[in-house]
Amino acid sequence: MSNKFYCTTAIDYPNGRPHIGHAYEKIVTDSYNRWYKMKGMETHFLTGTDENGQKLIESAKAAGKETEAFVAENVEVFKELCEKANIQYDDFIRTTEKRHHDASTEIWQKIESKGLIYHGHYSGMYCLSCESFYTELQAPDGNCPEHHKQLEKKEEEGYFFKLSEFQSWIIDHLKANPDFIAPAARYKEILSRLEADDLRDLAISRPTQNWGVPVPGNDNFVMYTWFDALINYYSALSEDQRKFWPADMHVIGKDILWFHSVIWPCMLKAADLPLPKQVYVHGMILAEDGKKMSKSLGNVVDPFDMLERFPTDTVRYYLLRNISATSDGKFSVDELIAKHNAELGNDYGNLLMRVIKLARKVMPDHIFTSEGVDQEIQVAEIYKRASEFMDKREHNKAMDVIWELVNQMNQYVNDKEPWKYKEDTETFSKIVYNCLFGMSAATYLLQAFVPQTTETASGYIGADIEGAELLEFGKAKFDIQAPEALFPKIENK
Ligand code: ME8
Repeated sequence: MSNKFYCTTAIDYPNGRPHIGHAYEKIVTDSYNRWYKMKGMETHFLTGTDENGQKLIESAKAAGKETEAFVAENVEVFKELCEKANIQYDDFIRTTEKRHHDASTEIWQKIESKGLIYHGHYSGMYCLSCESFYTELQAPDGNCPEHHKQLEKKEEEGYFFKLSEFQSWIIDHLKANPDFIAPAARYKEILSRLEADDLRDLAISRPTQNWGVPVPGNDNFVMYTWFDALINYYSALSEDQRKFWPADMHVIGKDILWFHSVIWPCMLKAADLPLPKQVYVHGMILAEDGKKMSKSLGNVVDPFDMLERFPTDTVRYYLLRNISATSDGKFSVDELIAKHNAELGNDYGNLLMRVIKLARKVMPDHIFTSEGVDQEIQVAEIYKRASEFMDKREHNKAMDVIWELVNQMNQYVNDKEPWKYKEDTETFSKIVYNCLFGMSAATYLLQAFVPQTTETASGYIGADIEGAELLEFGKAKFDIQAPEALFPKIENK
């Protein structure tokens, strides 16, 4: 495997405040990025905002603001969300930036120079919310399959990308690369759609409203927002950072899979650029009632509200472990509180507190070494299985595996009853060393998911080494520190 890992989220429309789906996508991507960084890879994590669409002009108008100011204000809120959710991105791209305009222009020109962009007319059924045309097969009832709103008939003169020329190439590419789309169900869906319906050329320009990336050589038009938006993954990389291209993982929701798994690879192929390795499609966060969140139903979960009310790691943990990596999932505050108390608070936090407090009482110097201690806790298999799940983009299952270790540690403490050996400090130290080893391994493996917690917990465990060596029994000496409760109980009022 190459030693670099470049991952991206979708770039969000900053036409309002971010919702829980935006937070979820960033938390998921952040965890993969942290995981591979932990494994010693050179990582790069890009997120950002998609600012060039017509939708932004409309939303700014509705808010009574200038588009530029309106967008800039909202972008700050998206950045604030990243900070509150502890998203450790390397770069945040705004598609109104010069670097993005320049790269989009370059790619357009490159594709045009190969005769794959032409000027023509188009008429079809259009959805403003998606900024997309739909064919009869995709929308047989004339309604947008995503927004369930009536499509508008739209006639356009402008520029077209010869997407139709890529039909057999993209099918072949998918067939040769079954991991190109994860999970497998999404891969099958795209492949069968490609085999059932002919690809049509794509309208890639819109009449200008003085907002967007101008079409090179014709100022009457701007690029269709999806055409430029997809380029963000490439345009964000400076000359020095181009070594990260192609991206290893684009993380997106299923509503935008077609753009990422068909249009984007075809654009790259047309521009003679290498293709991303994978598009990973996460599920959608649904309201507690199992319905799509909507203001009119009053079932919207606000990520800022959640991050205000609960510890950041509780929100991260809940979303990452409780929502399956391969399907949609409901967000329930009651469930979040229950998981906080039982799993984070009890299984993990209390275990750590109990062992460290007892050990500090019994051994006044607080130091535990491996001398004369036999290994009773195994972690290699846990690490291997968790890694396999991460590589398969099933992070919730990776966390389940790590939790097996946490549960095993609780069982170990209950079985060994170290409190019975206060006078026999040799036996006591052996049990505690095994406990500290197991807990520090679990803490190490959890850092991608609950990074603040693991940083604090590592301070209490006090190992004198760091990194993957923590998974090797006997290497660490522990100098345990006085702990405070990691996850104080939350009363569910
Ligand atoms: O689609 N649960 O932006 P966006 C989980 N600008 N994820 C959700 C979600 C939910 N309830 N609702 C939306 C766009 N998402 C374009 C992307 S990329 C070149 C351009 C996900 O702000 C959605 O699937 O509407 C997408 O991946 C991301 O949030 C941004 O959605």
